[in-house]
Amino acid sequence: MKSIKVGLIGFGTIGSGVVKILQDNQNIIKDRLGASVDVIKIADLDITTDRGVNVKPGILTTDADEVLDHPEVDVVIELIGGYEPARSFILKAIKNKKHIVTANKALLAKHGEEVFTAAGKNNVGIGFEASVGGAIPIIRSIKEAFVANRIQAIEGIMNGTANYILSKMSDGDHDFDTVLKEAQDKGYAEADPTFDIEGIDSAHKIAVLTRLAYGTPVNFDDIYVQGISGISTLDIKCAHEFGYRIKLLAISKFDGKAIDVRVHPAMIPEDKPMANVNGVLNAIMVCDDLMEENILVGHGAGSLPTGSAVVADVVEIARNMISGAQDRVPSQSFQESNVQSIPLKDMSEIEGEYFLRFWVQDKPGVLSHISGILGNHDISIESVIQRIKDDNGQGVPLVMMTHDAREKNIQAALKEINAMEEVSEQTVLIRVEK
Ligand code: HSE
Repeated sequence: MKSIKVGLIGFGTIGSGVVKILQDNQNIIKDRLGASVDVIKIADLDITTDRGVNVKPGILTTDADEVLDHPEVDVVIELIGGYEPARSFILKAIKNKKHIVTANKALLAKHGEEVFTAAGKNNVGIGFEASVGGAIPIIRSIKEAFVANRIQAIEGIMNGTANYILSKMSDGDHDFDTVLKEAQDKGYAEADPTFDIEGIDSAHKIAVLTRLAYGTPVNFDDIYVQGISGISTLDIKCAHEFGYRIKLLAISKFDGKAIDVRVHPAMIPEDKPMANVNGVLNAIMVCDDLMEENILVGHGAGSLPTGSAVVADVVEIARNMISGAQDRVPSQSFQESNVQSIPLKDMSEIEGEYFLRFWVQDKPGVLSHISGILGNHDISIESVIQRIKDDNGQGVPLVMMTHDAREKNIQAALKEINAMEEVSEQTVLIRVEK
């Protein structure tokens, strides 16, 4: 039986999951592939920690070059994450004609162009299903299942840590800091959770999906990114009162001319499926001209769920190797020559409904002053709630939902409102996604 030889760089949570899957499920993989997948070298800076899987002596090394330069390695799996040295390792592996499997969304979001071009030039495959949505087969779906569909929008909960925090805050009276600490204690959130809670991880993922959906490179730095650290329990309670849930959404919409790509907390009507995806789960919705809406839900992180996506990519590459097929499914979804730059829409141009939470002095004329400013900027109010007086006597929360308005007008109005003497805190703005 043919053996596909794999070298692994990064023996952490996902890496050890990959090795475990290849050991525990080797028979079913053989039955389906008609070949065995064998890990022949594993590189990690730490080769003494017990990873919970047995590996043959001599397989482990601290030197990544032993994987990259190994003459028998067919596929290099990169699971160290981050920009460097992952970028250099992948480019070297490609130069050495190794196929690549990676879960590295940060690298693909920032340096996708360079990596895809190098892979194309060297006729090697690059699999990255594990980079977005863990076990959810969103990349394979876009590239293969939806190959005939004109995608109009992709929208989703793409970070389990942020979703866990928002779900827990929504379940009870827990504030952001308490829930974050609990998530860290349970091992859901990283010791440095910045990328997860500030939306950067979700932005990396929507950049990867935008490229595949519309066949365009995306300049990562042009994506509007806002995280969840400014969301309070009060906002979550107010959202419930209006019939909404707050989720961190990654959004990419194409109107045929420009793409609106952004990451921010959003209010979702509570009867929508996306509003009810809780805990560490991810959910990704694809809208197109043929099937309207399709939502894929599943585990977006974790050793075995993400490991299974990595192994599936290795098997796809192995199938291509065995059948002699090359680039059967283009790694960027579109033929390389058809990848063309589509402009990104400026954030000020987007339109939608808005949740606004003001913190104001409770005295006559304040509400009419605020609504006057909103009216002057062509913003129409849909509903208003004034909450009970705050204990410290510093003011009251005044909460509004608007009808459809332009972001540009909302920002201009908030600048005026925030400067009012009766407004004691910066207004909280949460966009509504229906
Ligand atoms: N840290 C991510 C999450 C998983 O919390 O969803 C890896 O992308």
